[in-house]
Amino acid sequence: MDALRNPYTPGAGTPPPALTGRDPELEQFALLLGRLEIGRPEQSLLITGLRGVGKTVLLDAFEGIAIERGWFASSTEITSETRLAKVIATMTREALLDLRRMERVRDKARRALSILKAFTITTGVGVDIRLELDLEEGTADSGDLGRDLGDLLVEVGSIAQEAERGVLFLLDEVQFLERAEFEALIAGMHRSTRRQLPITVVGAGLPSLPKLAGEAKSYAERLFTFPTIGALSDPAARLALVEPADEEDVRFTEDALDQILRHSGRYPYFLQQYGKHAWLTGTDSVIDVGAVRRAHELVLSVLDTDFFHVRFERATPAEQRYLAAVAVLGDGPQRSGDVTRQLGYTSTTETGPIRDGLIKKGLIYSPRHGLVDFTVPLFANFMRRQHPLAELAPEL
Ligand SMILES: Nc1ncnc2c1ncn2[C@@H]1O[C@H](COP(=O)(O)OP(=O)(O)OP(=O)(O)O)[C@@H](O)[C@H]1O
Ligand SMILES: [Mg+2]
Repeated sequence: MDALRNPYTPGAGTPPPALTGRDPELEQFALLLGRLEIGRPEQSLLITGLRGVGKTVLLDAFEGIAIERGWFASSTEITSETRLAKVIATMTREALLDLRRMERVRDKARRALSILKAFTITTGVGVDIRLELDLEEGTADSGDLGRDLGDLLVEVGSIAQEAERGVLFLLDEVQFLERAEFEALIAGMHRSTRRQLPITVVGAGLPSLPKLAGEAKSYAERLFTFPTIGALSDPAARLALVEPADEEDVRFTEDALDQILRHSGRYPYFLQQYGKHAWLTGTDSVIDVGAVRRAHELVLSVLDTDFFHVRFERATPAEQRYLAAVAVLGDGPQRSGDVTRQLGYTSTTETGPIRDGLIKKGLIYSPRHGLVDFTVPLFANFMRRQHPLAELAPEL
């Protein structure tokens, strides 16, 4: 069918034509904003889930909801190079410049910019704050990141409250924060949450996230809930395919839908890929099993090259062998000890650095102590098909 009108959107962070199956998270988020607006405490959200399940898209939806309610919202994707202080300083600056437009809080916002200036000097992050501003010392410049972040959030939150607005900071790929920075964020949030101000930080990341909380864990659990998103439910997955087609007067046969749901494991990114290719192979405004069969071959090869292979290539040869060894053991979480034995070692201390390297790169995570699993759905299957352990050269 007509490629021009194809509604499906496989991609990273590409908004789906129908965002389905996420009502609980959307409702929880709306409740969070609503409660903060009336000065009631509420736990924020750190969304966790595997690659391609729709975390970024959900954060974008949150951002849209917040803006619609009159909040200031700003989002940042964390990388392994990111410094939290710089991210927060940049977003704080944007928020203050936005709030400053309101006459009522103009002077306070100006003072807060001076505080922010002191913060950027103390932390040594280069964020462009107007030079003519005086330095406001004594707030957010102690050098203790958690404390200073807390001060900044309180400053901005108080101004937002006075302006009858709210401020939302969104952080994607939070698992890339260094542990110390994540702990500082938690400490800062803890400081500002006690004041019940209309400001919050919402995040998303890989399932390793709750563990990252480490020392700050008990605080983190009070400040955040950790909703896990994953494969869509059966009805939500069907709707994600059917609704966009309906709008174009295209229909799926029931058995075609059944097949796509089975092949895709109901994972959002895979659903979009199947939707896109079945649309292209379908004829006469109908997507039937024949179209799905033709699409299946195409999707597998696109997924192998675009989705799986790029990730495999990020691993060193030793890490690639580790990935292959996890896959040999089957689907789902595997014991690190079993992986170690697969590789011909006797102790997990020998394979520990390889495992840690893969976790750092976000290719695997540890769902529980002593277990490892892939962060990419259906990756084990890809490894077994394309890079079986027996075919990867052993290290010398
Ligand atoms: N609820 C949903 N319904 C239908 N399609 C969805 C849904 N959520 C996400 N998608 C689609 O899935 C794909 C992946 O979404 P997104 O990039 O947000 O995932 P992610 O979890 O952020 O992945 P990564 O961990 O790789 O960053 C996109 O093509 C998006 O359009
Ligand atoms: Mg994402």
